[in-house]
Amino acid sequence: MASPADTGKRRITVLGTGYLGTAHAACLASLGFEVLGVDVSAARIAALSRGELPFHEPGLGSLLRTGLASGRLSFSTSYPYAAAFGDVHFVCVGTPQRAGCYAADLSQLTGCIDALGPLLNRPCLVAGKSTVPVGTAADLAARLARLSPAGPACELAWNPEFLREGHAVADTLRPDRIVAGVPSARAEAILRGVYADPIRAGAPFLATDLATAELVKVAANAFLATKISFINAMAEVCEAAHADVMMLSEALGHDPRIGRAALRPGLGFGGGCLPKDIRAFMARAGELGVEPAVSFLREVDDINLRRRARMVDLARELAGGSFAGRNIGVLGVAFKPGSDDIRDSPALDVAATIHGLGASVRLFDPVAMSQARRAHPELSFADSAIEAVTGADVTLLLTEWQEFREADPEKLGAAVARRNIVDGRNALDAGRWRAAGWHYRALGRPLGHAGK
Ligand code: UGA
Repeated sequence: MASPADTGKRRITVLGTGYLGTAHAACLASLGFEVLGVDVSAARIAALSRGELPFHEPGLGSLLRTGLASGRLSFSTSYPYAAAFGDVHFVCVGTPQRAGCYAADLSQLTGCIDALGPLLNRPCLVAGKSTVPVGTAADLAARLARLSPAGPACELAWNPEFLREGHAVADTLRPDRIVAGVPSARAEAILRGVYADPIRAGAPFLATDLATAELVKVAANAFLATKISFINAMAEVCEAAHADVMMLSEALGHDPRIGRAALRPGLGFGGGCLPKDIRAFMARAGELGVEPAVSFLREVDDINLRRRARMVDLARELAGGSFAGRNIGVLGVAFKPGSDDIRDSPALDVAATIHGLGASVRLFDPVAMSQARRAHPELSFADSAIEAVTGADVTLLLTEWQEFREADPEKLGAAVARRNIVDGRNALDAGRWRAAGWHYRALGRPLGHAGK
């Protein structure tokens, strides 16, 4: 294998090794770059160095181990080492919601720049990938200019990431677009070099200013959240009008101007991105004096949270009007299938609420059990779907894992106390479950609908 110097490839550091950073590091190593992943958590760096992924992400574990074995991928907690190693530093640290308000907490980001900046004494590019309120990159560029001994030879770009959890490897290696907020032609050329392979494969490369690049990401997530809440608002109307939101969604999705993506009705969106990103967007718009421009996002958020409340109501209805003394079997805990992420998980929120209302709740998820147990030790946890629903008065499907979609209604029916199910993700074949004697209910669908 030629060294990066032979191939003209730059050495890359990735600061922050969560879903985004680890996927970015392992994918760039697979494209032939020498990559150093950096994190302040020594335990995380030790695990990654052993080839152990600290979270569930299909395909990423093997890419990590291949990268380590090739010698192109390594990990460290040392910022001085990172500064000496890298020509391009990708910043992938978290920007969670700040406690007690809507705004984003940028402390990891500023902490990273403050630690790295004073060590940057040769030409390099710092490229932010974290999702940030518009204007953050300009502030960080000024901060870097103050801190870095390399002065103008050390530039800051913004290169947002659009990967989805559960699809991180494919989305990183084959992005549908690459957006680069760049201060100079030199910075653009460096990023074009990093993404040479996906660009050759046809990914559009859009060079723009820092603010636009930051906004593209926030706007994309706001649009996706709006689309999901739109179809869930239609589900509310369908419930009142005895119409079927699944058929409605399918019919809408055939319109190429609307499209099928992000139009699946159900329990709504969760995770570490969409909920906090729309809230941070509202907070930032307020600071910019354009609050009304995005005030609809409050409605988007409210619709989303109302789906959780509706799910609890439906479950209570099937439980006979009260949760007291009832057993509820819950299938799914992760915020979506393919991930073990429970951040703002609608499933876990519903399960914990029902427990708080007096039911005995037993959960199962194929991958998110230990995270859920840590977050909600008061709930009870099963080793399988069958065990979770054994003796249940009501069964709730809250995360649409394939194994739940394919579950045998007869087999589960033999385990439960009563054949009541609420399909929170419109993922089951209603006809099949009804034929097996289940009282099947779903969000946004009429009581006796015949549909799938
Ligand atoms: C989202 C975006 O899709 C990515 O493009 C973005 O890069 C990422 O946030 C991020 O900012 O890092 P992700 O949170 O992994 O990705 O998940 P999605 O697949 O978008 O799903 C988000 C939530 O919406 C899940 O809870 C999912 O169950 C729900 N959803 C999604 C629906 O309820 N209906 C749909 O039709 C689609």
